[in-house]
Amino acid sequence: MPRLLSGIQPTGELHIGNYLGAIKNWVLLQGSYETFYCIVDLHAMTTPYEPKEMSQRTLELAKALLACGIDPQQSVFFVQSHVKEHTELAWVLMCLATMGELSRMTQFKEKSSEQKGHATAGLFTYPVLQAADILLYKAELVPVGEDQVQHLEFTRDVCRRFNSRFGQFFPEPKPLLSKTPRIMGLDGQTKMSKSRNNHIPLLAAPEEISSLLKGAYTDPARLRRHDPGHPEICNIFTIHKGFSTQELVSSIESDCRTAGIGCTDCKKILAENMAKSLEPIRERYLRLNDSEVLEVLCAGATKAQSVAKETMKQVREKIGLLLV
Ligand code: AMP
Ligand code: TRP
Repeated sequence: MPRLLSGIQPTGELHIGNYLGAIKNWVLLQGSYETFYCIVDLHAMTTPYEPKEMSQRTLELAKALLACGIDPQQSVFFVQSHVKEHTELAWVLMCLATMGELSRMTQFKEKSSEQKGHATAGLFTYPVLQAADILLYKAELVPVGEDQVQHLEFTRDVCRRFNSRFGQFFPEPKPLLSKTPRIMGLDGQTKMSKSRNNHIPLLAAPEEISSLLKGAYTDPARLRRHDPGHPEICNIFTIHKGFSTQELVSSIESDCRTAGIGCTDCKKILAENMAKSLEPIRERYLRLNDSEVLEVLCAGATKAQSVAKETMKQVREKIGLLLV
């Protein structure tokens, strides 16, 4: 089976953008690929964070991912900092990456402008560590949301550079997008994200889901109930695609265009379907306890380490270091 890897930062609660852009796909791909899923805590150090909260956040995220259906029997599920080879390979790749290409990364430009002159070298080299995460396991596919496509292009570039300088070694990884690769925030202004507080938490209770949806931005070109709608530019319609059946999505699409259904009713149906899909996840999450999750992560780290150690042994040889 081809190998696949993806990662997520423990920077806050999971939201439905993460779920529809990536996590739902992670779960579905298990069994068809050799899957590696990683909580990237070292990446979460690239912007200001509270040291006292990091370990708890990592544990909570692991719990949420297990509740979503990541199955440790089928996937290698682990924490990045438990496998030291990630940073070692990142250094090797840093000596191949150029300042110019890293300066062009959109995520760096956005995040460094928020840091107002305090952006760190860690934030600048973030994509190099991401490339190391992927190449360390020789993954061929990377299921992510659309915002990560540029980082994957960069990964492919350094991968090619490594292979041409030191000899063919790493396969070139490709992004794998879900059918909803970009979920906008409830404010309709930017993508849904934890830091902008424009999100629906994945573990929200049904009442919270429906109250958040009530205030959500829809189709800006539909001002009155009787105006025809434009589902292709409506974020609520996109979210329907993730939670409603194909049949319902098609009927909502045509009813919206002919003004047969209004935004309030459309949101009501969505809230019900979201609650139905998310309730089992919430229940599983509440049942998981810390010690069983720690055990799962410990076993995952052992499996990941054995692959990572083998890759680094070969990398050290390839790049010409003295071996003892
Ligand atoms: P992050 O929370 O930034 O670590 O992202 C984890 C995963 O969720 C990545 O694969 C992202 O591409 C994906 N993701 C984050 N926000 C969104 C969004 N608004 N729409 C679609 N995918 C997203
Ligand atoms: N940069 C990714 C994000 O913000 C997280 C990430 C780190 C990742 N390492 C990865 C994703 C490796 C895929 C593969 O979402």
